[in-house]
Parts: sequence; structure tokens; C-alpha cells
Amino acid sequence: MTQRREHRSQVGIVGAGPAGLVLAKLLARAGVDSVVLEARSRSYVEARVRAGVLEAPTVELLREAGVADRLDREGMPHSGIALRFADAPGGPAQDHRIDFADLVGKGITVYGQQEVVKDLLADRIDDAGLPVEFEVSDVEFHDVTTDAPSITWTAADGSAHRLHCDVVAGCDGFHGGSRAVAGAGGDLTVAERSYPFAWLGVLAKAAPTTDELVYAHHDRGFALYSMRSPEVTRLYLQVPPETDPGDWSEARIWDELQTRLARPGFTLNEGEFLEKPGVTGMRSMVAGPMRRGRLFLAGDAAHIVPPTGAKGMNLAIADVRVLAEAITRFYAGAGEGGFDGYSETCLRRVWRAEHFSWFMTSMLHRFDPGTEAGDPFGVGLQRAQLRYTVSSRAAATSLAENYVGLPHGAV
Ligand code: APR
Ligand code: PHB
Repeated sequence: MTQRREHRSQVGIVGAGPAGLVLAKLLARAGVDSVVLEARSRSYVEARVRAGVLEAPTVELLREAGVADRLDREGMPHSGIALRFADAPGGPAQDHRIDFADLVGKGITVYGQQEVVKDLLADRIDDAGLPVEFEVSDVEFHDVTTDAPSITWTAADGSAHRLHCDVVAGCDGFHGGSRAVAGAGGDLTVAERSYPFAWLGVLAKAAPTTDELVYAHHDRGFALYSMRSPEVTRLYLQVPPETDPGDWSEARIWDELQTRLARPGFTLNEGEFLEKPGVTGMRSMVAGPMRRGRLFLAGDAAHIVPPTGAKGMNLAIADVRVLAEAITRFYAGAGEGGFDGYSETCLRRVWRAEHFSWFMTSMLHRFDPGTEAGDPFGVGLQRAQLRYTVSSRAAATSLAENYVGLPHGAV
């Protein structure tokens, strides 16, 4: 066996998703060096289609970090969304606009998560000449409860490596291994909720027919109308959790979308699918504390939300802002005390977003889709909440301020 190569950096980051890459960027700006390890290839992470809504504080942070040039050119600023539902059972659906600009004076930007990832990779690798180690395997964290943690891995060419650091960051997403390492200390609590449905998502070469996102509550289940560009529409259908996307032909998907998104005067443009339809499960999960010794969890590694509130990437970025500040304080002489409050500060925002995502999910989905008798009590509550949300300025403002994103540090 060839010898393990030894490396050293101040911070070791596992995962090149939004959490890992924004952390690396914020640290670089603060003069802290880091190594980023990623299991997949660059082309894979650049092509991975995820959600595409950036909160106002996320956009501000990316601008401050100097990685928002293309976002500012190509991102689509939106100043509201529509909630689409029938006022009376069986009646025609109507749109009820939640006007973010009027209610809270801010908006969101529609820009795909993989575009954010592409911009961050170009900035780090192509512009700054800093490395990201792609296609690594056998990643393991060591000695995280000491002041000299390390990470070992096997590189794409089979060579073995060890990185010695002061701090290690688990930014390896929901399926990564860092949460288990944080849990090995015995004081990690995992709070979870699963939902009895999933989303079937499609990306279509079809011009969006409205300027804003539409969240539709329909007897046959929820549907979401979103977009990526003036030529590309992103659409989702609530489906049973065990759905095999292979059972859904293009014709069946368009039929179902046309039914659930129907509204007098609304046309849904159809077009060729740009990728295979995929099914995403719906789950809420919060693991805390988000720290064990010198290992810090951030993003999906520590928490996930159902996508209805579009919070996943935004929370990941909010976490690493707090983490970058904590690490900067540590190097500025605060020592271990610099890390105090990291988990607590993140979890306050995380739980607010968990609540909002659960609220949107519960209000908009059918828990009994397409059933004859259904769950009249549950549906009655949903209709009451939908009507209240669109008719009370106070309720609409609450939705708007959560959707556009509470200022970092506000909760
Ligand atoms: N070693 C190295 N890299 C790993 C490992 C591992 N053992 N396990 C996972 N990874 C990588 C994944 O390949 C992925 O690129 O970690 C990265 C985690 O990135 P994301 O899943 O995008 O998670 P995060 O950065 O926290 O961003 C949260 O992602 O899941 C979406 O909707 C969610 O938008 C949210 C965002
Ligand atoms: C998306 O465009 O992919 C999207 C938008 C809003 C959501 C979820 C996903 O709530």
C-alpha cells in the first residue's frame, strides 16, 4: 500500500453543496484557509437540479461575498406568489396574490440552486485557483473532540490522504456521514416528521405563462408552478410517497398538471422534458446540537425541510454565515469561546423555517387526495386557513415575511 499523504489547513470542509461552498468562500474572505472534499464530480454537482428560490437575506449575503454577478444578471426577482384554490368545494379555482413588495417591502429571486453552486465553484477554482477535491471516497472524521481533528479520504486516483485542521465542517447533506459522527458523543437529538406524500418534479422547455410562482391546492393533490428562466418551467405534483416516476408518462404528467393548475383564463404551456422526472420524499428533520467538539454540522447534514417553503438552501447558507463568523472569532483570539452559541443561533432560525415549511405543507397538500369521502374536517381547516391567509393583511404579512426570509439573526 502506498503511503498516506499528509496535508494541513485551518478548516476541513466535507461537501461541496451550497453549505460547504459558501462556508469556504466566507472563510477565504476572512483570511482563513480551507480544503473542500466532495464525493461527486464537478459536472455532477453542477447539474444536480434542486429548488430555486433565494430569500432576500441569501441574495444580500451572496452579494456581500462577491459571488452574485451572474445572479444579479440572470436571477428573476419576484415580488409575490399566488395561492390558487377554489373558494367553494367543486367551484372554479382563483388566484390570490401574496404581494411581498407591498406587505414586507422585499422579494425573492428565482435562480436554480445548481446555478449558485456553479458560480461558487467557478469563483473558487477558476478565479481564485483554490482546490476542491472531487470524487473522494472513504471520508472519515477523526479526533473531533480534541483541538487537532483530522479527516482521511481516498482520492479519485486511489491515493490515501489525511488533512490536519483546527476545525472540521460537516456540510455533506442529508445522506452524509457527519451527523452520525456528531451523534457518537451521545447528546445529539434528532426530531423528525414524515409526510404521507412526495413530489414528482419536472423541468420542461416551455415558456412560463405567468411571472410568479403558483401554489395550487386541489382535490386531487397539491401542484406547484415554478420556473428557471424565460424558456424553462419547473413543475411539481403531489404524489404518493412510494411513486415510481417510471409509471408517469409525459402525457400523464401534463394531464395531471393541467387538471390541478386549471383556472379560468390560465394556460399552462407544455414542452419537452429537459431531464427525467424525479420523486422527492417529504420530511422534516432537525439534529441538535449542531456541534460536537471541533466538528460543526451545517445545512442538510443537520436539518431538512419539506420543499413547500423553499427554505433548504437558504437555511444552509444562513448556517454557514454563523459558522464563518464563529471560526473568524476563534482565530481572532476568542479561542473556544468563539464557537459558543453557534448551534443555538442556527437552531432558532432552523426551527422557525421548520414551522413555516410544515405550515405551508399542511395547508396546501391533500392528506386524502382524490378520495370520495375524504377527510372533510382536515379539508375544512385547510380552506379556512387558505381563506384567512389571503383575506387578512396580518396573516398574509406573516406568510410574506417568512417566505422572503426573516433577516439573519432576527429570531
Ligand atoms: N464525502 C464527501 N462529500 C459528500 C459525502 C461524503 N461522504 N456525502 C455527501 N457529500 C456531498 C454531496 O455529494 C453533496 O454535494 O455533500 C454535498 C452536500 O450538498 P447538499 O446536499 O446540496 O447540502 P447542503 O450544502 O447542506 O445544501 C442544502 O441542498 O438538499 C438541498 O434542498 C436542499 O437546498 C438545500 C440544500
Ligand atoms: C423550485 O422552483 O424548484 C421551487 C420553488 C418553490 C418551492 C420549491 C421548489 O417551494
